[in-house]
Amino acid sequence: MTRRNDWYRSGLEHIWLPYAQMKTLPDPVSAVATRGCLLTLEDGRTLVDGVGSWWTSVHGYNHPVLLAAAHAQLDAMPHVMLGGLAHEQAYRLATRLAETTPGSLSKVFFTESGSVAVEVAMKIAVQYALNLHGERRTRFVSFTGGYHGDTFATMSVCDPEEGMHRLFSGVVPEQYVIDLPDNEARIDALESLLAERGDIAAVMVEPLIQGAGGMRMHTPGVLQALREACDRHGVLLIFDEIFTGFGRTGQMFAADRAGVTPDIMCLGKALTGGVTPLAATIASADVYAAFHTDAPEHALMHGPTFTGHAVGCAVANAGLDLFESEPRLDEARALEQALLADLSPLADRPSVGDVRVCGAVAAVEFETEFDVEAARAWFISRGTFIRPLGRVVYLTPAYTIPREALTALTSAIGDFCDGVGSL
Ligand SMILES: Cc1ncc(COP(=O)(O)O)c(C=O)c1O
Repeated sequence: MTRRNDWYRSGLEHIWLPYAQMKTLPDPVSAVATRGCLLTLEDGRTLVDGVGSWWTSVHGYNHPVLLAAAHAQLDAMPHVMLGGLAHEQAYRLATRLAETTPGSLSKVFFTESGSVAVEVAMKIAVQYALNLHGERRTRFVSFTGGYHGDTFATMSVCDPEEGMHRLFSGVVPEQYVIDLPDNEARIDALESLLAERGDIAAVMVEPLIQGAGGMRMHTPGVLQALREACDRHGVLLIFDEIFTGFGRTGQMFAADRAGVTPDIMCLGKALTGGVTPLAATIASADVYAAFHTDAPEHALMHGPTFTGHAVGCAVANAGLDLFESEPRLDEARALEQALLADLSPLADRPSVGDVRVCGAVAAVEFETEFDVEAARAWFISRGTFIRPLGRVVYLTPAYTIPREALTALTSAIGDFCDGVGSL
């Protein structure tokens, strides 16, 4: 047995893996190296990565500009806390995010994970009403199919029935979870909810694409309807762009593609191109004004140990440089065309219910259930790393993926359509 097998076998006895029934989970394959859109496995095989490490590695793995930024910051100063100390990378990143996000979104709070960025957005929304009018608005409107994280407050705004946190219904705070208002009846339902309930702090949505809920897509018109309803009823609108941010929809933010600006935006994942954890909650100037007073109790009392982590912020600044110096958004838009060309024809296959594409995201939804673990193993046997979400096989590759590698992914999905019945 090699040393590596030692760590694997003893580690598997102790590690508690994400979203997994450890008793039945097939043994994961081990990765030893990454480059571009490729994963190298311990046994020497190379897989084309269709997922991008939970949707983060938009520039491709090991981009030299990101790695150089991380190394330089590590050598100079890995991190110092933002309580009482300032450092250049966090301050520069805050300025750049304020400049890059739309409208008056301009006040940036850093966290280390998307879930916590959403928690902070929820906390800001509740405290905004308290600071401004002394009102206790403690509840949120969110949408079926939505996913916003795994912490307690964020679980409460996930889909309570189809989502993965069903078990916690009745344990987490109760929210108003409704269907997205994509027709008149649903807009009316949202309108009456906002009109009748005085306890709503904000409406929370993943704009344009509900990711973990199965890559469900909606039109910009839905977001415009949300914006108008929130404005009419004096309720804040939060865009959770943790998945959609940084080019995933073909524009820097889904807010840009939709032409709708929220009051608070949450960012994470691709913020550092998948190199380090970092997330951000960005509030509009108006929201911030309710905190920026002479009253000490109006302050936002939040401060994770690693807020504004220096290495993370250095990498995120380098990532923003790449959006300027390399044609990243053009690549994401070109991916939309390539994905449409390769995958739209699959809609005619008998096993396929729906094919949808938006920017650098494609989803093929199957008519029937299949064994997801068997499907994952089948894709690996085809030299690809693709992890279906329920009945949805999706691609969220790096925007830099070469055409041949993309073809390897899409043709594997094409073949999967024929074989899905046997899984
Ligand atoms: C839209 C959205 N919000 C929040 C999160 C939670 O982010 P994290 O896993 O970094 O806590 C995710 C993660 O997939 C997400 O897709």
